Amino acid sequence: MLDFRPHLGINQRGHLTLGGADLVELAEKYGTPLYVYDEQRIRQRYREFRDAFAGYGDVLVCYACKANTSLAVLSILRHEGAGADIVSEGELYLALKAGFQAEKIIFTGNNKSDRELERAVEAGVVINLDSLHELERLIEIVEAQKAEAKVSFRVNPEVSPETHPHLATGLRESKFGIHEELVLKAYERALSCSRLDVAGIHMHIGSQITKVEPYVEATRRLFDIMGRLRRELNLELEFADLGGGVGIRYSAEQPYITPAQLAEALLPVIEEKLAEHSLPRPRLLFEPGRYIVGDAGVLLARVYTIKATPYKKFIGCDAGFNLLLRPAMYGAYHEVVVANRAGEAPAEEVTVAGNLCESGDLLAKDRSLPRIEKGDVLAFLDAGAYGFVMASQYNSRPRCAEVLVNRGRAELIRYAEDFEDLAAKQLVPERLK
Ligand code: LLP
Repeated sequence: MLDFRPHLGINQRGHLTLGGADLVELAEKYGTPLYVYDEQRIRQRYREFRDAFAGYGDVLVCYACKANTSLAVLSILRHEGAGADIVSEGELYLALKAGFQAEKIIFTGNNKSDRELERAVEAGVVINLDSLHELERLIEIVEAQKAEAKVSFRVNPEVSPETHPHLATGLRESKFGIHEELVLKAYERALSCSRLDVAGIHMHIGSQITKVEPYVEATRRLFDIMGRLRRELNLELEFADLGGGVGIRYSAEQPYITPAQLAEALLPVIEEKLAEHSLPRPRLLFEPGRYIVGDAGVLLARVYTIKATPYKKFIGCDAGFNLLLRPAMYGAYHEVVVANRAGEAPAEEVTVAGNLCESGDLLAKDRSLPRIEKGDVLAFLDAGAYGFVMASQYNSRPRCAEVLVNRGRAELIRYAEDFEDLAAKQLVPERLK
């Protein structure tokens, strides 16, 4: 557990620590369920990614906000100098609120609404287009607003990233990106509109990718397309965005890649392709989300019910898939640690169940854990990405609080919702009162 998660530890009381803070104390102080993040780990992972590609020169790491949009987390990355990859008007709002400069924001939504395109033009962010139809709608908007916009196109590189089917986005049959057959047409049309600065090209092949090969293959395709754009349209692009998707180690057994390995595999290919197609060096963009925040966060939950059935022993805790959806949605594995007895050896096999009325609400199946008692605090590891952001109020359970730890000191960064939040924004017609 601790060897590849250096930000976790076990203190003298046998409690699990994150970024130097005692998680059992945090569970007592702030209540459970509770998300906790380690600021220094986020900074370290961002820097690791940035530094891996530093040899190339002009590189911008645009944090994929969708992984965790808490304003404190966004602010950490803005302070680090990251750009932001956003996918909705809501993320645009939050990224601007966290202080990201518009020039460093790339809007890569899928099926953007007219309003979202309008807001993106007004804000002056780079608009990454996903279809010819979206391009036509953007042209109408910039003409009507007499405004300018910087654009790129997301291309579909048609590679399989060998990840969970829900997390593959660059397959031939996927809904994302523009297929090679249509790419030239898209750029040609964009170039015909003088209000558009046709600046870049983009791909994103999927998420939780644990091999470099799919990136290498897709990058070759992307740079070959850039070669065609130069030859056939005389277009030289300012940036090439290779997307996000680098996986993290959810368990010791799972294969993984590091940003350094990715850079080692990709940079020679990029140099080779730049020479082959006589291309000027574009700025390289990346959009990691999970890699930066994934292992920096844990979800804490308290054990209430111990239920031995003739078939299985269930440990019932006060969080469910309303707070951590990944196990139910993708069959994802999150390691569980009994935070108040973190060093203890496994004693029995149990299944950790959430508190929702759904049979799929199991947060960890058939795990070997120390003997668990009522009141124990469970830590679900690696919950910093796609954790809180995918939370809901299902079963009328208000969303929980979030805490940020920095060098052992903890601060609340989001209040827990209360029951008023369940009723907030709702209206009951007069006749029903
Ligand atoms: N760029 C684009 C265009 C994306 O769609 C995504 C993720 C990223 C970057 C960041 O990918 P990352 O580096 O975080 O893998 N909810 C799923 C993950 C969905 C990812 C969606 N797109 C999960 O919990 O595993």
